[in-house]
Amino acid sequence: MYEPEEGGIHPRKAAEHHYQHVRELLNNALDEAKIEYEDLDAIAFSQGPGIPQCLDVGAVTARTLSKKHSKPLVGVNHCLAHISIGTQTTEAEKPSTLYVSGGNSQVLSYKKGRYRIFGETLDIALGNALDKLARKLGYPHPGGPEIEELAKQTDEIIELSYPIKGMDFSFSGLTTECEREVGDVSDNVLANSFQEHAYAAAVEALERTMSQENSTEALLTGGVAMNSRLREMVEKMCKQRDAQAYFPPAEYCMDNGVMIAHQGLLRIKKGNKTKIENSKTKPNWRPDKVEAKWMIE
Ligand code: FE2
Repeated sequence: MYEPEEGGIHPRKAAEHHYQHVRELLNNALDEAKIEYEDLDAIAFSQGPGIPQCLDVGAVTARTLSKKHSKPLVGVNHCLAHISIGTQTTEAEKPSTLYVSGGNSQVLSYKKGRYRIFGETLDIALGNALDKLARKLGYPHPGGPEIEELAKQTDEIIELSYPIKGMDFSFSGLTTECEREVGDVSDNVLANSFQEHAYAAAVEALERTMSQENSTEALLTGGVAMNSRLREMVEKMCKQRDAQAYFPPAEYCMDNGVMIAHQGLLRIKKGNKTKIENSKTKPNWRPDKVEAKWMIE
């Protein structure tokens, strides 16, 4: 897996890493599944959203394999893939979803043929905010697990801005506010304060969405979904509403190839192939732009 030597993800270096390892990765996946290319139904790839240079590696590889092995190509939306693997690996059917990762933070709920976005970050993603704060405290990428560990050591918090604006949330100012306290407030208290404020805002947006949509299911997904405090908050909120909280296994919360393949399969079953000329990557592709045909019986 790509790990930056220092700082955050460097787009070009991450893409170079992908190019260097893609062949080995594909061979390993086929070996593990004990199948050949001819056994595949289609070639699915993440068409967006994401880092453009990295998406290009996946798209170029997928187009090449599709041509070489005469298999249909299917470009999938990364955010929707997180949701569909979440429902596949849990009992959830049509959950309101809090999707929080290094690159995205959104609250989505299925309504009339699409997953609508009810709330989202106005600036940086929650995972990115955790990474920034961790870096300031001297920890390498990814910073979420370090912040979680620091926060577990205390119950104390300092008062910070509460980052919710309407149905949306915002983590950039909160991160700066915490960074300014480094040295004056202990790392444990800062980490705990950040988590309590940021997660409460995200869970509040999820709760409001559930209330508006009369939803009895909540799904937590994305890399930050592995955080135990966030899970605890979602669980507690659901209990109070008589709703059910669902948490996919850790390997399906973080980015994974299975979610792209699975979303591709759902789409291909409904005839959603992607022509080569339409396979250009979409770094800002919003999930509500996609018809969720696989949700319709
Ligand atoms: Fe992701």
